[in-house]
Amino acid sequence: NEGSLWGARFASGPAPELARLSKSTHFDWQLAGYDLAGSRAHARALAAAGYLTSDELAAMLAGLDAIGAKVESGELVAAESDEDVHGALEAALIAEVGADLGGKLRAGRSRNDQIATLVRLYLKDHAAVIGHQLVHLIDALSAQADAHRTAIMPGRTHLQHAQPVLLAHHLLAHAWALSRDLDRLVDWVKRADVSPYGGGALAGSTLGLDAASVARDLGLGAPAENSIDGTASRDVVAEFAFVAAMIGIDLSRIAEEVILWNTREFGFVTLDDGYSTGSSIMPQKKNPDIAELARGKSGRLIGNLTGLLATLKALPLAYNRDLQEDKEPVFDSVETLEVLLPAFTGMIATLTFHTERMAALAPAGFSLATDVAEWLVKRHVPFRDAHEITGALVRYAEEHSLELDEVDDDALAAISPHLTPDVRSVLSIEGSVASRNGIGGTAPDRVAHQFAALADRVRLL
Ligand code: ARG
Repeated sequence: NEGSLWGARFASGPAPELARLSKSTHFDWQLAGYDLAGSRAHARALAAAGYLTSDELAAMLAGLDAIGAKVESGELVAAESDEDVHGALEAALIAEVGADLGGKLRAGRSRNDQIATLVRLYLKDHAAVIGHQLVHLIDALSAQADAHRTAIMPGRTHLQHAQPVLLAHHLLAHAWALSRDLDRLVDWVKRADVSPYGGGALAGSTLGLDAASVARDLGLGAPAENSIDGTASRDVVAEFAFVAAMIGIDLSRIAEEVILWNTREFGFVTLDDGYSTGSSIMPQKKNPDIAELARGKSGRLIGNLTGLLATLKALPLAYNRDLQEDKEPVFDSVETLEVLLPAFTGMIATLTFHTERMAALAPAGFSLATDVAEWLVKRHVPFRDAHEITGALVRYAEEHSLELDEVDDDALAAISPHLTPDVRSVLSIEGSVASRNGIGGTAPDRVAHQFAALADRVRLL
């Protein structure tokens, strides 16, 4: 039992089955750098409170630095006998500076307050990475929108042709959704920016350590106001997993469209060779694997969130070992997004849009019918009647296999005396798009405003 964190009370060491179950070094080792940062801050707090002399502090910090270098170089890895990263690094410190000094560091802290703090440090760093990656994706969508300011595509509801819209308007719609995900990440930091360190196992410490200086050392805003809450809550982790899942879902909605647009039937886009894959048997294939993986991984991100929520449900206060299950799902969400986002951004940035094909299909499916109805409203026909008249026009055109602008003057007049030949002025996709010029509409000058508004929004975050 020598070397264990809690050996003395036990007559025997842990059974091998327990050790195997209990072990977390294969995933919490990536917190080693944060664990050492916490130990440095804690050592300074111990020294400030008179539990370490300045010589002891210097030797302890030097020992922690030496361990940090060994972790970084790969010389120090978790041993088979280590349960978690905290125990492993304490053992390493004792090996480095001796048991007399190394054994002093554990005073006034517990792995419970350590781990609750370290996971926040880890997630704060990765929130910054993912935030930057999101900005790149938003920029790629904006750049594609900017490069296609006048292109018109069929806008859809229920996946059916609805009304023509600018391709730029559609792409920016995705960018706005992602800007809210970025907003969520930035806002999440407010709640994450708290240090549970000093809370001990659950009730705080008797040693009078300065938790505020530990928080400051770790770059966290303030110590937790309540040691039970600090050590036992994981809503901050779950919220991060939610934001990650939401990002995944927003990516999957773009992905689904790219997959459809890339089909022969749509023919709206061509994927860059560098961002698409081939088939081992069908030589002609060029597949949208990045988009499909994004769609697939969104399921995984949702799973990580729901798994974590299920772990937290009905857990009594304070710390329970169940909480060790918080890390693998949220680490997986981080790793998934950090690999997915750059590939996804590359796919978007290199998409070729076939704007002629989009424009040719934009008026199909009588997508200008609403324009006819609103043209009638502007001539003071009640909308109810305008809807009826336009419906009759669509039925006539469909029965005669005509587009709306091919219906002749006599037929128009027969459907309704309100339908004068002038109505053809709104039967172009350019006219339709340009006339939707209220705030948020798809008219080119309205869409032009969105670029600046979106850039401002993202810059302020
Ligand atoms: N490895 C644990 C976790 O990740 C921290 C250790 C707490 N263990 C304990 N027996 N209190 O949550």
